[in-house]
Amino acid sequence: MPFFVFGAEGFEVYKRYCSSCHSLYPPPLKAPPMSMVAYRVKLFYPKREEFVRFVKDYITKPSPDKGVCMPMTYMVFGVMPPVGRSMSEKEKERVAEWLFETF
Ligand code: HEC
Repeated sequence: MPFFVFGAEGFEVYKRYCSSCHSLYPPPLKAPPMSMVAYRVKLFYPKREEFVRFVKDYITKPSPDKGVCMPMTYMVFGVMPPVGRSMSEKEKERVAEWLFETF
């Protein structure tokens, strides 16, 4: 499958499940922008596989204990709700891959 098709699917998932809170770039909506989230998560999980694993897990079972956002983030925006619980495995995979590739 050509990469752009793959990426486009992830973007569709983002639009459907994430864009109400996460803008792509600043200014933020109800959460840090995706570009900043991806940058931050990559500092802790630079490898594609572990990045994807982290994102899939976090969106399903979010908690400040495992989150890598700066402490201020939780004070400003609160903790993310478990959006991933209403998503399929494939959707989670696609959006996590898209996040890794795009930013
Ligand atoms: C209802 C609002 C909301 C939606 C929808 C939402 N998020 Fe979040 N997200 C947040 C907030 C608030 C934070 C910052 C606090 C935190 O990390 O829990 C966050 C943080 C994150 C983080 C950083 C986790 C960390 O702390 O290290 C990732 C990754 C993330 N979101 C991915 C996503 C993805 C992917 C989607 C769509 C599938 C999504 N979010 C949908 C509100 C949301």
